[in-house]
Amino acid sequence: MINVALIGCGYWGPNLLRNLLSLPGCNVKSICDLCNERLIHMKNLYNDLIITSDCSQIMDDDEIDAVIIATPVRTHFELAIQSLMKGKHTFIEKPLARSTEECNILIDEAKQRNLTLMVGHTFIYTPPVRKMKDIIESGEIGEVIYISSRRLNLGLFQKDINVAWDLAPHDLSIILYILGENPKTVSCQGKAHINPKIEDVTNITLTFNSRGYASIQSSWIDPRKVRDMTVVGTKKMIVYDDLEPLEKIKIYDRGVSVPPHSDTFAQFQYSYHYGDVYSPYVKQEEPLRIECNHFLDCIRSGKPSESSGEKGLEVVKILEAASKSLKNSNVSVSVNDSLELRAS
Ligand SMILES: NC(=O)c1ccc[n+]([C@@H]2O[C@H](COP(=O)([O-])OP(=O)(O)OC[C@H]3O[C@@H](n4cnc5c(N)ncnc54)[C@H](O)[C@@H]3O)[C@@H](O)[C@H]2O)c1
Repeated sequence: MINVALIGCGYWGPNLLRNLLSLPGCNVKSICDLCNERLIHMKNLYNDLIITSDCSQIMDDDEIDAVIIATPVRTHFELAIQSLMKGKHTFIEKPLARSTEECNILIDEAKQRNLTLMVGHTFIYTPPVRKMKDIIESGEIGEVIYISSRRLNLGLFQKDINVAWDLAPHDLSIILYILGENPKTVSCQGKAHINPKIEDVTNITLTFNSRGYASIQSSWIDPRKVRDMTVVGTKKMIVYDDLEPLEKIKIYDRGVSVPPHSDTFAQFQYSYHYGDVYSPYVKQEEPLRIECNHFLDCIRSGKPSESSGEKGLEVVKILEAASKSLKNSNVSVSVNDSLELRAS
């Protein structure tokens, strides 16, 4: 039995808790939040849980094997380093931390103590994203040349991070997962409309060593909720709409090519191909349950998680480079050395 504690019972923590409580081999012992109202609400729902507003009660409890952190990003590092230093396997919601420096410290601490460190890149545990990866790896759509991802809605505004740090970790973790490749450069444009210091609309573009190019649009001020991604391959295209109840993935047998030669401009014509559209079967499973179960499996087996600390670091590296680009008029920033700015 793995004894678990949850820190953070705001919007997202209760979703993790509900799934953890449903998993065999997992005993949720205590929950912590700074807000007493939230704790009382949670106690009314789950009477057996110990509640506390002091996280040191969890850190000092030798019976607790693992800690789940679902608090605002500014608190991730402080809570996670305490948890690791107390010898507890640690799951942190996305993004792993506020900087690559903080991520590296967490990764080293977990390594030295042989502990599982995992970040909540929830979407890589969803059946549609797994299906997209399978389709891409099968070669069915050819070489991926372009990805466009949109995550838009009205709110929920964060006070400590901009919309790129809040929403783009999802798109970034999906893109890195399905391509199996990290970007070479990042550029980012954005604007703060509501809170003058926090961008509520951003556009990130990524280039890769392969031909691939990706753009990620994030917004807290869009009237519609949009969660979609288009993957354009040299042979076919995939459209993933996470808001579709059943047919979340559609494969379009469509494309455009340039004829090998034409003698005159009048003869020159692009060749458009319009074939079938089909929606492959995708299993309906709760991704959070898969994710929480995977965390427990990694603790038991000692194997690295599919969203390990290192994977969390890759995403934070891109976000850091995006912030740098945003502050420097959309200049292209190299991801591996995000201090180096390149002229666009
Ligand atoms: N994986 C996903 O799809 C997903 C979705 C939403 C949010 N998240 C992530 O979950 C985390 C929490 O987001 P949220 O929307 O639930 O935020 P929230 O503000 O609604 O809730 C955070 C809770 O943490 C508590 N808290 C803050 N500091 C604390 C501390 N030091 N000790 C104990 N409790 C503390 C607050 O009182 C609050 O109740 C963030 O990292 C966010 O990015 C992930």
